[in-house]
Amino acid sequence: MKPTVLLTGATGYIASHTWLALQGAGFDVVGVDDFSNSSPEVLNRLRELSDREPVFERANVCDEAAMEGLFRRHPIAAVVHFAAFKAVGESTTRPLAYYANNIGGLLGVCGAMQRHGVKRFVFSSSATVYGQPERLPLREDAPLSATNPYGQTKLMGEQILRDLGAADSVATEGGARGAAWQTACLRYFNPVGAHASGRIGEDPRGVPNNLMPYVAQVAVGRLARLSVYGRDYPTPDGTGVRDYIHVVDLAEGHAAALRRLFEQAGSVTVNLGTGRSYSVLDVVAAYAKASGREIAYEVKPRRPGDIAACWADPTLARELLGWSSKLDLARMCEDSWRWQSMNPKGFDA
Ligand code: UFG
Repeated sequence: MKPTVLLTGATGYIASHTWLALQGAGFDVVGVDDFSNSSPEVLNRLRELSDREPVFERANVCDEAAMEGLFRRHPIAAVVHFAAFKAVGESTTRPLAYYANNIGGLLGVCGAMQRHGVKRFVFSSSATVYGQPERLPLREDAPLSATNPYGQTKLMGEQILRDLGAADSVATEGGARGAAWQTACLRYFNPVGAHASGRIGEDPRGVPNNLMPYVAQVAVGRLARLSVYGRDYPTPDGTGVRDYIHVVDLAEGHAAALRRLFEQAGSVTVNLGTGRSYSVLDVVAAYAKASGREIAYEVKPRRPGDIAACWADPTLARELLGWSSKLDLARMCEDSWRWQSMNPKGFDA
């Protein structure tokens, strides 16, 4: 029998791609989302792409009774937890909302898991937990810090999961409990791109905060020009440098992490990045080539809170999960453009 995985935040950008990757890896998926930052249309697209009826319930992960109901109705063997707010800037103006949703949701889901004896958990963490990097590439044992509430919620989330694992090992030594918690904290670098079909992709509400969706909307004519935030960084062309990773590679990383939790004891914390890095102007040039459109831009002052450069050492993920990224920047831009040009106004056009 296929193990059933609960996917929270299931209709979001990364989760919807992960839904397909998990099905491809032999898992049954139950999705939950409250559509606070996604569209129900995603379910139609998933039905079409997987040729299966998506098993889905609309609920908020902070709703304890709703989470309890999910565990009663479905034979859940593991959880992949995406549901969270993710905008750095917004987190500084709405800190309570970020703590309530990101920490409250995590506690709600883990509480229901604990009550039902389900202890395999994959957590969406972020490279933001490394704060201002002292050394590059970033290894998992680099110092951790947070400079905004969003980053704090990721740091705290990782800590909560370590505490859960530690509490279990104490209880296990005393012979009091059964299986121990097994968690995978996945520290994402910069997810971009879209499914090769062009049917699902990133559909931010309002003006995009992140680089590639902004560039995509310039290419398709929805936005006039990109603001390049800073050209005076200590990088080869002076613009910010990041480790962009194709969302389909990232989704496969979740399937690999889950497989590991089913096959071996213990918990893991790994980077999901490519180990390669590109500047803002590299991305602009690659996107112009993929789309055949000119990407107008102007240089603006640095964005507060931005770091100059950030990229992963992806070695540990390869060693522990047998996973590494496959798709290059050209593919990221081509797939993003296919999605953007086929769905110029996103899911709800
Ligand atoms: N940038 C621009 N113009 C824009 C948007 C971004 O020049 O309109 C630049 C930024 O200054 C940066 C690069 O493009 O140099 C990437 O910016 P993104 O906003 O796409 O991504 P960040 O690296 O700033 O943030 C991402 C995630 C965060 C996460 C962070 C660290 O969005 O959630 O990585 O892991 F916290």
